[in-house]
Amino acid sequence: MSRSVLITGGNRGIGLAVARAFAAQGDKVAVTYRSGEPPEGLFGVRCDVTDAAAVRAAVEEVRVQQGPVEVLVSNAGITRDQLLVAMADEDFRAVIETNLIGAVNVAKEVTTDMVKARWGRMVFVSSMSGFTGAPGQTNYAASKAALIGFARSLAREVGRRRITVNVVTPGLIETDMVREVTDARRSYVIGQTALGRTGTPEEVAAVVRFLASEEAAYITAGAIPVTGGAGVGQ
Ligand SMILES: NC(=O)c1ccc[n+]([C@@H]2O[C@H](COP(=O)([O-])OP(=O)(O)OC[C@H]3O[C@@H](n4cnc5c(N)ncnc54)[C@H](OP(=O)(O)O)[C@@H]3O)[C@@H](O)[C@H]2O)c1
Repeated sequence: MSRSVLITGGNRGIGLAVARAFAAQGDKVAVTYRSGEPPEGLFGVRCDVTDAAAVRAAVEEVRVQQGPVEVLVSNAGITRDQLLVAMADEDFRAVIETNLIGAVNVAKEVTTDMVKARWGRMVFVSSMSGFTGAPGQTNYAASKAALIGFARSLAREVGRRRITVNVVTPGLIETDMVREVTDARRSYVIGQTALGRTGTPEEVAAVVRFLASEEAAYITAGAIPVTGGAGVGQ
């Protein structure tokens, strides 16, 4: 098994852990990065997911280098936390533009090849916040909730072609993204988990890898929590 895998935002955090997990099982892995250097040992394509033309070019580069994308992990995302009353319009838009429209741009570019191949796997990295909401995250939670509706609809469009489309909804995972979470917020979220701790990027990667496997062929339109038990029942 050596599939052509594309992971957006694969140069650090959860995306990098996902990329390493696929590479370790022998897949051909491409990651997008926006600046600097691609991670060592992985094929990197420079791409800002909010730029549809750049996404088209990146997907074409992957097609040439390792074949049409068979597994997409749409992971690139940002936060711009602020209470709504104080939030700049630009910060609300930037989060929607990256987390939702960016994911749409990439999904649109890979769907035709998957349909032609009559096989494919798409996994979108959403968030527990998309279900629960969180103070300061009206923009982020809206973008992540929208991703679930998007993925579930796409799953229904392409399911007959043996393409599955799923979402993972991580809780608090130790990456750069949560470095600025206040101690009070961190304690609150950990208090909501059953396991009493935060998660690791590798723990999210394991779930993504499973959803992209042949064994997961009958799972589609799912929203799989990787939260240590937080947000249960939401
Ligand atoms: N950490 C958590 O607790 C948590 C929980 C739930 C969901 N998530 C989701 O998990 C995903 C990964 O987050 P993370 O924690 O690994 O965060 P991270 O360490 O901040 O990494 C974010 C990644 O997204 C990329 N990215 C951001 N905007 C982009 C754009 N416009 N075009 C292309 N790439 C872009 C970044 O690229 P650059 O390096 O170029 O900036 C980076 O590779 C995100 O969608 C996030 O919302 C995280």
